[in-house]
Amino acid sequence: MSETNIKNTYGARHVAIIMDGNGRWAKKRFLPHAIGHKNGVEAVRKTVRAAGELGLEALTIYAFSSENWKRPKTEINDLMMLLRNYIQSDLDEFIANDVRLKVIGNYQALAPDIVALIEDAIAKTAHGKTILAVALNYGSQDELVRITRKIADMQSLGEIRSDEIDETLFASMLDTADLPPLDLLIRTSGEHRLSNFMLWQCAYAEMWFTDILWPDFGPEHLEQALQDFANRERRFGGR
Ligand code: IPE
Ligand code: IPE
Ligand code: MG
Repeated sequence: MSETNIKNTYGARHVAIIMDGNGRWAKKRFLPHAIGHKNGVEAVRKTVRAAGELGLEALTIYAFSSENWKRPKTEINDLMMLLRNYIQSDLDEFIANDVRLKVIGNYQALAPDIVALIEDAIAKTAHGKTILAVALNYGSQDELVRITRKIADMQSLGEIRSDEIDETLFASMLDTADLPPLDLLIRTSGEHRLSNFMLWQCAYAEMWFTDILWPDFGPEHLEQALQDFANRERRFGGR
């Protein structure tokens, strides 16, 4: 798509966020980890509104990784309950604010009632303009392995030759295939790693790291990251 599609002065279409630091936010206040997650949902709400207002086409948020199953069962239950409540309570706001919900990751493996809620919300927001892609049970290595398996199956059925496998084919099979290319990746909480998030998509994304803990993140920080992004020179390997 051409640059004329960009709806903001920052030149950014797609921002992704690794929302990290809920536990440390709670710990600093001598509160349970779950309260950190609860306040994290408030930060999601504000950030989703801001994404639309700032003219982004897509916001992808890392909510639950394929490795987060390693956490205590009680914490996983808390997170799943927050997810249920969030989809139910914010569906009307998505529709009112022209938000289109999308999920990346193997969300089919979540509890059947959550899968049903997600699919209902995706259907009811299908005409929205700003895409909110929520990464649920998402791991980038899992995403790439799923694609590779599909290609292997296609090849064994004679549907594709190995010389037809290229970057364009891979990109068209990613969970993010219908999203604009990733412009900016934000990670909160001072950690400087990708934690299995959008490895392919990050190839030429700009990175913005902040020490702010996710529950403290707000529209002003998103704007700050976008302003920073606007001043970067992206070369994509050229000169
Ligand atoms: C991020 O907060 C939220 C999820 C991973 C679901 P954490 O729970 O990882 O918070 P910290 O990293 O322990 O502070
Ligand atoms: C990444 O945060 C996953 C999400 C934000 C959902 P983690 O807290 O799970 O990452 P690590 O374990 O510190 O790398
Ligand atoms: Mg963490």
